[in-house]
Amino acid sequence: MTDNADIEAAWTRLEALAQPTLQQLFEQDDDRAETMGHRLEFDLGELGQVGMLVDFAKTHLDAGALDAFEALAKARGFDAARSALFEGGIVNPSEGRPATHAAMRGSGTPADVEEGEALLARMDMLVEAIHGGALGEVKHLIHIGIGGSALGPALAIDALTRDLKFVDTHVVSNIDGLALEQAFDACDPATTLIAVASKTFTTTETMTNAASALKWLGENGVPDPGGRVVALTANPERAVEWGVDETRILPFPESVGGRYSLWSSIGFPVALAVGMEDFRALLAGARAMDVHFREAEGRANLPLLAAFADRYYARARGCQTRAVFAYDERLALLPDFLQQLEMESNGKRVTADGRPVDEPTAAVTWGGVGTDAQHAVFQLLHQGTHMVPVDFIASIAPGDELDPAHHRNLLMNCLAQGAALMAGKASDDLARDYPGDRPSTTFLLDDCDAATLGALIAFHEHRVFANAVLMGINPFDQFGVELGKHIAKQIDSGEGEFDPSTTRLMEVAGLR
Ligand code: F6P
Repeated sequence: MTDNADIEAAWTRLEALAQPTLQQLFEQDDDRAETMGHRLEFDLGELGQVGMLVDFAKTHLDAGALDAFEALAKARGFDAARSALFEGGIVNPSEGRPATHAAMRGSGTPADVEEGEALLARMDMLVEAIHGGALGEVKHLIHIGIGGSALGPALAIDALTRDLKFVDTHVVSNIDGLALEQAFDACDPATTLIAVASKTFTTTETMTNAASALKWLGENGVPDPGGRVVALTANPERAVEWGVDETRILPFPESVGGRYSLWSSIGFPVALAVGMEDFRALLAGARAMDVHFREAEGRANLPLLAAFADRYYARARGCQTRAVFAYDERLALLPDFLQQLEMESNGKRVTADGRPVDEPTAAVTWGGVGTDAQHAVFQLLHQGTHMVPVDFIASIAPGDELDPAHHRNLLMNCLAQGAALMAGKASDDLARDYPGDRPSTTFLLDDCDAATLGALIAFHEHRVFANAVLMGINPFDQFGVELGKHIAKQIDSGEGEFDPSTTRLMEVAGLR
């Protein structure tokens, strides 16, 4: 149950708090590095270990702010909302659905977990059969999907297959034919499988790319192109109509949202590329984070604590953006993945019960890889007029086998940036003056393996959910993407009224 008076009281309290600088916070509390830097450790048995230090010490959260945020979480009914998430409650009211993505990795109602296990067993059989040669020699996979049906697989494959393990995989999302042509150039049609990943099995980009991929197989001497297709979808009937044999359809439930679907059949290309053992480690790492999120209370719950910082900067400090920098080439696609996760989930203007939102919702999420980004965009972070909260993500274990100087330099740079943003450096010459007091959170992973990646992604899913609860919005719908799709169809058919600018552009582009 939410309590409006208590919500307002918590924000009044937060906004009335003194705003010490980061330096002052460290001066006030000798133990701040320890009390705000939390170590998470999960033992996954034979599937491995997860260890990470999540350091919030360089955020402006102090005891007063944390007390007020805990009061806000209580007033927003956080405990009940969290239970509903794991217990099949209708947490997506606009579509009348639960959100069961965590059940795919073993966290949810017994019925949902059982369904997840059955779907995983089906995927396991197909992956092992393909690895065993049941579909002939398979050297390449072209995975066709977009948004949530592409970003999670692309991230996991890029992170976990730096050394080719099983199948060379290419994720194609853009309807620009150039993207698909590039994948064709890298694959031998005789040994290529096509995965068509679409929750709805109606998305124009995906269906157009899938049809072209089949045509390419046929034109290049593959006798039964349809027999080389695997469908990953929550709409198996549509996949059958489209021509995919039922034995090669891996379904998943409607209650798994697109941007949360990596754990479901949409993870098939990951499993095919890295093998089932690593895929299970990915799931187990995520499940361990579920357990932490379910059980830890208040500020000890790290995804919730991260959401406290997000809400603080968005509302109390007016920060409109948040930047994520992966100081690890294996996590190069993490900013893209988080961008969809956060902006499609929490970029809303209405509350879950249909009233206008009266506070800033999701920060514009952006980022890149360190150290490249340092030499391109960090100028603004250090001296621009915006305050941009930054997340740094690095792994203690290197991904490369070159001279250890590479990795040492990478880590040094990561830590130096957080320190510089906070400390600043005064100069009489304003052009050389760094104001400092700029916040950051650092995720220092023991390693960047499958289990840790799973835990890191689940951390962010829960952080997004916690943010949504603190704002009272529904993170599981995305009606905002529909209007543009509808107008694209109108442009295609030529039916409909268009503004003069669009009409002229249509004419010049040859669309009319
Ligand atoms: O247009 C947005 C969206 O619906 C995303 O939410 C989704 O991840 C993506 O398109 C792809 O949708 P589908 O998996 O149904 O093809």
